[in-house]
Amino acid sequence: MAYPVTRPRRMRGSETLRKMFSETRVRLDNLIYPMFVIHGRETRNPVSSMPGVYQLSVDQLMVDAAEVVSLGIPSLLLFGIPAYKDSCGSSGWDQDGPVQTAVKALKDRWPHLLVVTDVCLCEYTDHGHCGVIKDGQVLNDPTLELLGRMSLSHAEAGADIIAPSDMMDGRVGHIRKALDDNGFERMPILAYSAKYASGFYGPFREAAESAPQFGDRRSYQMSPTNSDEAIREVALDLEEGADMVMVKPALPYLDIIRRVKEIFGCPLAAYNVSGEYSMVKAAAERGWIDEKRVVWETLTSIKRAGADALITYFAPEVARWIRDGEWE
Ligand code: PBG
Repeated sequence: MAYPVTRPRRMRGSETLRKMFSETRVRLDNLIYPMFVIHGRETRNPVSSMPGVYQLSVDQLMVDAAEVVSLGIPSLLLFGIPAYKDSCGSSGWDQDGPVQTAVKALKDRWPHLLVVTDVCLCEYTDHGHCGVIKDGQVLNDPTLELLGRMSLSHAEAGADIIAPSDMMDGRVGHIRKALDDNGFERMPILAYSAKYASGFYGPFREAAESAPQFGDRRSYQMSPTNSDEAIREVALDLEEGADMVMVKPALPYLDIIRRVKEIFGCPLAAYNVSGEYSMVKAAAERGWIDEKRVVWETLTSIKRAGADALITYFAPEVARWIRDGEWE
């Protein structure tokens, strides 16, 4: 199988041939678009580090969602910015909170839109951590109870998928039980299973107003140095009842995406996070890279690595490129 008999370039000779044997394609069906819902009315706050992304009150969210839906994007992931925060994040299970209100409005208007809700305390706690604090420590087991309540309130509002992103041990099992005990045994869980303590979340924390007020998240999110640990986390979440798992961030963890897919063969989402988005936007604004090409290459590589669903702030742009025939 050597030159000159084998010439891989023969397969690259024409557009038609290249397309015919193309292995990977990012489709509209694969996209989940994250949106930030803030309390109040007629609010549309630009997120300075994420051009094109806004904190939206429910009325404004509905305006933007109408466009997202008309572009054919099948799913949204919602994050909430509540009117008040306290030490245990109690606004997170307020039935009139921004996420709960948004879910009701969205499902009412677009019953087929797949609404995913992020379940985590960090946007709702005054200290910005993803769990209850005692003596400067993030407590695990007392946090589970609160995550269960928040999940239930999202389910009651009409969410389609519950997505816990806190990285507490045992939370998937606890949430599964809370849902099952309350008649939501058909509610799927998308677990943020392999979530790394990442510098790429920086812009998100501006968008969600969720930066930790002291310390960092390294006692619950994973170290970028580890790969086997991700496999163990995924195994635990699947055992506890997760229906889908997630690797996050995406681009710096393509190896993890690939390992998870090969080992478990389970439904897998990857989160192309805020920092990954902002880097591309910043470079494109300066004319240093071609945004469309780079977004296409990025998302294609995440899918090629093994991800099924792609959570990305680029979803509306991708949908427009697909609509206009500018996507391979
Ligand atoms: C909440 C959460 C975070 C992200 C999603 N859910 C931030 C964090 O853990 O600090 C990050 C998403 C992004 O950067 O786009 N726990």
